[in-house]
Amino acid sequence: MPFVVTAPCFGCKYTDCVTVCPCDCFHEGEQMLYIEPEECIDCGACAPECPVEAIYQDVDVPTEWQEFIALNAEMARATPAITEKRAPLCEP
Ligand code: SF4
Ligand code: F3S
Repeated sequence: MPFVVTAPCFGCKYTDCVTVCPCDCFHEGEQMLYIEPEECIDCGACAPECPVEAIYQDVDVPTEWQEFIALNAEMARATPAITEKRAPLCEP
């Protein structure tokens, strides 16, 4: 049951999440990050690190953001890995 990055990440990309992931699961798109579901070990370390609460386990993704489950799987494979924090797109 992998974790999923959802809508609040879009346009923000705080990237606090990438610094705690033990498996380097995060991939970076232009507007948001994605988790590679095949690599995620479901440790849960990333979710509390996100200042805008964008990360959920797939079974807990809110109804309106369900499409992000498939989007993470699709886009993680099409984008490069990110393992270091960067300046966010939005202001805190
Ligand atoms: Fe990485 Fe753990 Fe988050 Fe999965 S749940 S993306 S392994 S920190
Ligand atoms: Fe996005 Fe939150 Fe990580 S805004 S980049 S999921 S810390």
